[in-house]
Amino acid sequence: MQVTRDLFDDVMVPNYAPSAIIPVRGQGSRVWDQNDKEYIDFAGGIAVSCLGHCHPALVQALTEQGQKLWHLSNVMTNEPALRLAKKLTELTFADKVYFANSGAEANEAALKLARRWALDVHGEHKSQIISFNKSFHGRTFFTVTVGGQTAYSDGFGPKPGDIAHADYNDLASVEALISDNTCAVMLEPLQGEGGIISPGADFIKGVRALCDKHNALMIFDEVQTGVGRTGAMYAYQYLAVTPDILTTAKALGGGFPIGAMLTRTEIAKHLKVGTHGSTYGGNPLACAVAEAVLDVVDNSEVLAGVAQREQLFRAGLVRINEKYNVFSEIRGKGLLLGAELNDTYKGQAKTFLNAAAEHGLMCLVAGADVIRFTPSLVIPEQDIAAGLQRFEQAVAQVVKG
Ligand SMILES: Cc1ncc(COP(=O)(O)O)c(C=O)c1O
Repeated sequence: MQVTRDLFDDVMVPNYAPSAIIPVRGQGSRVWDQNDKEYIDFAGGIAVSCLGHCHPALVQALTEQGQKLWHLSNVMTNEPALRLAKKLTELTFADKVYFANSGAEANEAALKLARRWALDVHGEHKSQIISFNKSFHGRTFFTVTVGGQTAYSDGFGPKPGDIAHADYNDLASVEALISDNTCAVMLEPLQGEGGIISPGADFIKGVRALCDKHNALMIFDEVQTGVGRTGAMYAYQYLAVTPDILTTAKALGGGFPIGAMLTRTEIAKHLKVGTHGSTYGGNPLACAVAEAVLDVVDNSEVLAGVAQREQLFRAGLVRINEKYNVFSEIRGKGLLLGAELNDTYKGQAKTFLNAAAEHGLMCLVAGADVIRFTPSLVIPEQDIAAGLQRFEQAVAQVVKG
């Protein structure tokens, strides 16, 4: 069968508009399409492929586990899941882990746990969830409603209730909403999809203090920031603010679907037998790969390498901007970076993305005004230099019109 991009429109539900390119293989930070055209990957499958494509340690973990045991369901536990959970508890504040298959599912579990905890410990009145405008937490109906973009939550009938939205980096807006009826405040420790918005240190500390004052749980959605992306294993560690619940997915599996929710024992105990679950959650294949991911990323050299690579990206983007004057700001942390387009180019992030692809570079957008870069954490320096060269050619093309 000949597989072409046209087939997508014939056989797929039209909720995505994928690019014309169909990649067929990848190695490290390079990808090749059906025509053998090569791309440098600054997108990393939306902050997922944290060790690039086909990293030998992940291929080995997948093939070894693939020859042993693929699946059991949660009627039985399995060795990779228990090893991975142990590692996650050793790496973080958490004592307990719940496994899911995606970021949205990890967040769904976090929100349901928060509601259960509040109901059990405080009573029915404590059900309000506060999150932030522009935030993104996934596409289940609960997470999309907690997320701060009505474009994703409208049009599906009645929404889950008692959810309010404050403004990120505006502590007064949280203070105006929070009360003893608040069950949880959910936030990204750096807004990703919302445009690469870093939190002020005082803001995060202030939210923690408000949660403490009102006995509300603080939920960090580290689906995009987690597993080394910011240069720390988890962003809460460099922010020096510890949440009560943390969710992680994307890079955790390095390309194999897995998500996890982490919390402390006294909160975890409210997700009693039968209250929540997933057939695939904690699947041995996914957990074996994720264990290999953590073994590679949890390494001071790899994490320090993220900060070094951030500097290379920033310096390169500043140089391009000096020449072409297209950006108003380069922002973000580690290898979760955004270049915001200035007034002349506002709304044209997709145009830059398409031009980049023409020149053999995969990157992302975060809204209409920001070009986003989330490459592999171990992308070779030559690939950064070569990719930035291609990006410069794309910028030149857009500027020339
Ligand atoms: C912060 C954050 N939370 C949750 C999600 C949803 O994750 P998934 O697409 O794996 O459900 C994303 C995905 O972009 C995200 O960036």
